[in-house]
Amino acid sequence: MNKKILIISGGISKERTISLDTGKQVAKELIKNNYKVKISEPNFRLFQIIESFNPDVIFNALHGQFGEDGYIQTILETTGIPYTHSGVISSAIAMDKVLSKKIFIQNRILTPKYISYAFDKTNINLIKIIEKKLKFPVVIKPINEGSSVNVFICTKFNITKNLQKLINYKKVIIEEFIPGREIQAAIIGSKKLGAIELKPKRKFYDYQAKYNSKAKTEHLIPVNLKKNDYSKLMNLTLKAHRLINCRGVTRSDFKFFNGKFYLLEINTQPGMTSLSLVPEIAAYYGLSFIKLIELILKDASKEK
Ligand SMILES: Nc1ncnc2c1ncn2[C@@H]1O[C@H](COP(=O)(O)OP(=O)(O)O)[C@@H](O)[C@H]1O
Ligand SMILES: [Mg+2]
Repeated sequence: MNKKILIISGGISKERTISLDTGKQVAKELIKNNYKVKISEPNFRLFQIIESFNPDVIFNALHGQFGEDGYIQTILETTGIPYTHSGVISSAIAMDKVLSKKIFIQNRILTPKYISYAFDKTNINLIKIIEKKLKFPVVIKPINEGSSVNVFICTKFNITKNLQKLINYKKVIIEEFIPGREIQAAIIGSKKLGAIELKPKRKFYDYQAKYNSKAKTEHLIPVNLKKNDYSKLMNLTLKAHRLINCRGVTRSDFKFFNGKFYLLEINTQPGMTSLSLVPEIAAYYGLSFIKLIELILKDASKEK
C-alpha cells in the first residue's frame, strides 16, 4: 500500500508563506511518486485530520515560531506518529540563537561575539556596553526568528533607531558584524550533504536576497574552498548537528572570513521551496528532490 504522508504547513510565523511554498513543493513531489498526501495547517482541526487520515508519517514543513521551535513538535509527540526533522528539545535549542551559541562556544565552534539585550533594561548606556564588548558595526536580530526577518546591520549612529523596530521581541541578540563570504552547509540523516556559497547583490543576505529571484543573489556550487577548508566546514556542520542532537536535515549558516568559519546559526527546518538551498545542494551532489524527501521521511521519528 502507498504510504500516507500528512504535511503540516502554513502556521502563524512570519515565514508562513515560505512554509506554504515548502509544503506545496514537497506535496507535489510526493504525489508524483505515488504517495498519498494531505496538507494541513497547524490549527485546531489538525487532530481531526490526523485521526481520519491516519498518516504513516507527518512531514513538518513549518518554519519559524511555533513550527521550528519545539512547540508543534511537543504536540506531534502526543499523536504517537513519527514526524520529520528535529525533536522537541533540539528544535527549541536550535531556534534560540543565544542558547545555541552558548553550546557552540562551549564546544569550541567559532561564532560571532555577542551580547543579548532585553528591552526592559532601562537606563543603561547600551552603546557604551557594546563598545566595551564588541566592535561596530554590529548585527541586531531577534533571538528566535528566521529568514533574515528583522535582521539589521547597525553602526553606532543608527543602532538606537533600528532597535526600536525589534521592540516587540522583548529580547534580541547583538552580534559583531563579520564581513567576508556567506557559506551554508547541510547535513542529512547524520551525513554530510554539501555546501553552497551565496553572493547577494544587496547589502547582505536579507529576506529579499533570499526569496525574491529579482534580487539576483548568486548561488555558487561547488563552493570554491581549499580541500582542507571544505572538510573543516563540513566537520563543523556535522559537529553542530550532533551537539544539538538534530534529526533529518539541518542547514548551518556561516560567514567565512580570514580563513575562519563563524557559525551564525543552525536551522532545523530548512526551506524546500524552488529557491531553497538544501534541495539545490542535494541536486548538485546527485540526490534528487524525491530522494531527499525520502531520506527526511526515513529519519522521521518520535522521542517518547
Ligand atoms: N554576525 C553577523 N555578521 C555578518 N552578517 C550577519 C551576522 N549575523 C547575521 N548576518 C547576516 O544576516 C543573515 C541572517 O542571519 P542569521 O543569523 O542566519 O538569521 P536568520 O535566522 O534570520 O537566517 C545572514 O545570512 C547574514 O547575511
Ligand atoms: Mg540564517
